[in-house]
Amino acid sequence: MADFDLRPVSPALGAEVVGLDLSRPLDPRTVEALSAALGEHLVLAFRGQRLGDADLVRFSGAFGRLDKAPITEHGRLNAPGFEEVYVISNVVEDGRPIGALGDRESAWHADMAYLDEPPFASSLYALEVPDEGGDTGFVSTLASYDALPEGLRRRVEGLSLKHDATTNSGGYLRQGFEVPTDLRSSPGSVHPLVDVHPSGRKALRLGRRLHAYIPGLERVESEALLDEIWRHAVRPDLTWHHRWRVGDLVMWDNRWTMHRRDPFPADQRRRMHRTQIGARHTLESVQ
Ligand SMILES: [Fe+2]
Repeated sequence: MADFDLRPVSPALGAEVVGLDLSRPLDPRTVEALSAALGEHLVLAFRGQRLGDADLVRFSGAFGRLDKAPITEHGRLNAPGFEEVYVISNVVEDGRPIGALGDRESAWHADMAYLDEPPFASSLYALEVPDEGGDTGFVSTLASYDALPEGLRRRVEGLSLKHDATTNSGGYLRQGFEVPTDLRSSPGSVHPLVDVHPSGRKALRLGRRLHAYIPGLERVESEALLDEIWRHAVRPDLTWHHRWRVGDLVMWDNRWTMHRRDPFPADQRRRMHRTQIGARHTLESVQ
């Protein structure tokens, strides 16, 4: 018997986990039950938590090895003393941004889809939130595939996609990268456009729209086909948006979902701490 309740938050995906205090170590059976819940619902929301960075690292580290904070438009931004904790914030202190992604919209994406082995999952914890805006949306890439009309499903079969490594989800160029001029040779990995879930269902592996390219097609053909796919893939009725409160932790499966963020007023503070659980095979060591 799991020591928590699950309450689905939308017809599309996502569940709220009720009854757990994540500031206390979880027993292995609970971690296993949460892993199963994540596999089923793809996004888990935990409300009303009071977590320090050490708690966030311990909780998310129970699901696999944690990656270091990524390189952002301002370089590597991690919480002091925790190189795995990535700060996402519009707050500027002493003239320096304390986090990444500013206040503008963040486009649909899967985290680090441009790597050969993208991360398994991410956890995002809210420390300060604006009065309005800044909601995070999610979509299941299995539902995205199912939403394609039959003819489009046939066209995407067997295609691959070049994922761009230069630009982050806020549309900002990562420090040390240049705007790509030739998408065939710019930094980033190529993956099959259609992926197969362990259940046998198919999923779209789109990564993000900006600078994506379908190898083998002329650039203009690739752009047209990607635009057509994206129109179906993130249809509003397939999505769920989380309205943040301080103390919320949201964990998502990064392999079978994409996410985005609404913009929010520049004069309001938003401060989130995120951890990222490495590629799936690292789970083998976790019991
Ligand atoms: Fe992200």
